[in-house]
Amino acid sequence: MQSRTLTRLALALGISLSTGLMATAAQAAPMIIKFSHVVAATAPKGQGALKFKELAEAALPGKVEVQVFPNSQLFGDGKEMEALLLGDVQMIAPSLSKFDRYTKKLQVFDLPFLFDDMDAVDRFQASEVGQGLLDSMKSKGIKGLAYWHNGMKQLSTNKDKLTRPEDIKGLKFRIQSSDVLEAQFRQLGANPQKLAFSEVYQALQTGVVDGQENTWSNIYTQKLHEVQKTIAITNHGDIDYMVITNAGWWDGLPDDIRAGLSKAMAGATEYANKLAADINERDHQRIAKAGAAKIQTLSKEDVAAWRKAMKPVWEKFEGQIGKDVIEAAQASNKS
Ligand code: LMR
Repeated sequence: MQSRTLTRLALALGISLSTGLMATAAQAAPMIIKFSHVVAATAPKGQGALKFKELAEAALPGKVEVQVFPNSQLFGDGKEMEALLLGDVQMIAPSLSKFDRYTKKLQVFDLPFLFDDMDAVDRFQASEVGQGLLDSMKSKGIKGLAYWHNGMKQLSTNKDKLTRPEDIKGLKFRIQSSDVLEAQFRQLGANPQKLAFSEVYQALQTGVVDGQENTWSNIYTQKLHEVQKTIAITNHGDIDYMVITNAGWWDGLPDDIRAGLSKAMAGATEYANKLAADINERDHQRIAKAGAAKIQTLSKEDVAAWRKAMKPVWEKFEGQIGKDVIEAAQASNKS
């Protein structure tokens, strides 16, 4: 619309605005950035997303508005990746277990008992190989912006006994959509079933599945401990995230916006990654206090038995992931 027409329109409406002011008003509409995720706002990823909103809006006042949608409100697993590629949402942070369809390399994060602890995960993500994986889906139009931590996975079932691999033979387990995790449970003689995160509570409650694996924070915020009898402290794998965006959208941003968002992402990453361990420990304690499920500690021998039973999975995926990537991840166990 011509500015003269705008002025006439303003006059006709009885608004005495100068064209200059109107132009400023038109420019002032912030760019909306939608950040969708599947966990609770109080979980590590939920906190990271809120921090990113705070920092991005402070760095780019009036220029961007970040809208955060937690709890699969906008899209659940499966749909969110398509939505990102279609431009219906600008940022998501799926668990590293959910990228099978886009790259096989990230399957490294699902190999059971690969990382000794979260410090090792952190070192690997910061390494050259780890940083390189952020670009592993470029050809699919996906850009990795950062890794965010959640924590180590624990195993839970609706049975009283959960100390050795034989205790889960024949049981049905909910898994994330990962072929490695499918192989892991098959290796143990259990029956894995890929289900969206938002469906886990009900699947456990109604007996569609007997058990699941997740972090303390996800177990607590989804109330999974209320529909499970035993949670074994296995620490057999990790759930972390890659914050991703649509590469075409990102590359097309004005330089100042991209720089501001990058800075906000770095700040949010540092914040969320420091917080994740505390949140998981807090939720571990809350689950213990609630007393609904028994928390089973394992002896060194028990853990060794799980490790031995799950290890053959590594070989099956070595070809797809790449030996170099697995070795770089293993090297991160030594500080
Ligand atoms: C799950 O599906 O169990 C997790 O990936 C959910 C999440 O995003 O932490």
